[in-house]
Amino acid sequence: MSEEIKKDIDKVIITEEDIKKKVEELSKRLITDYKGKDITLVAILNGSLVFLSDLIRQMPFSMRLDTVGADTYGAQTFPKTEPRLLNSLKVDIQGRDVLIIDDIIDTGKTLKRVLEDISRYKPRSLKTCVLLNRPHRRQVELEPDYCGFRIGDEFVVGYGLDFNNCYRNLPFIATLKPECYGRK
Ligand code: IMP
Ligand code: MG
Repeated sequence: MSEEIKKDIDKVIITEEDIKKKVEELSKRLITDYKGKDITLVAILNGSLVFLSDLIRQMPFSMRLDTVGADTYGAQTFPKTEPRLLNSLKVDIQGRDVLIIDDIIDTGKTLKRVLEDISRYKPRSLKTCVLLNRPHRRQVELEPDYCGFRIGDEFVVGYGLDFNNCYRNLPFIATLKPECYGRK
């Protein structure tokens, strides 16, 4: 990692090693639960990209993959608007077992919005899998079916999660120094 990015990090809260172990653990559960089923993963872009790519390479069976885009945050650490879906599905999921993948559930509004959209296509089953869960900020009644880590109130970046579309490429999850949030 460059010195330029390193100087913005306040604290690493989940290490690369811990993420790796957790992704293995989650994939083992998914392999057991989805064995013999016709699974379609639907990833919410862009935050879930890194988690998704590590997760699917641990799942050695045939699957389909699609993505949906959602937008709320911009250059701030709290949602500025209701989540907006930027596109819907391109694959046919009717009668299929669908698992939605996201980086984090915070207020829960994004995941709820995507769940509502996808259920219109009548999947056989519909579940959710997130790497991070910040339960204290929830504004809708929704718990993920699969979850990696519960975290506290602090805003985090890395492993796909961004601030103002930066820091997604960090291999760990970290908080930023307060002065970074003023930058645009
Ligand atoms: P929710 O709709 O409030 O649950 O927010 C979920 C979306 O907000 C996630 O898909 C993330 O992209 C983004 N988000 C929430 N918390 C964080 C954070 O701490 N860092 C980066 N992105 C976040
Ligand atoms: Mg997101």
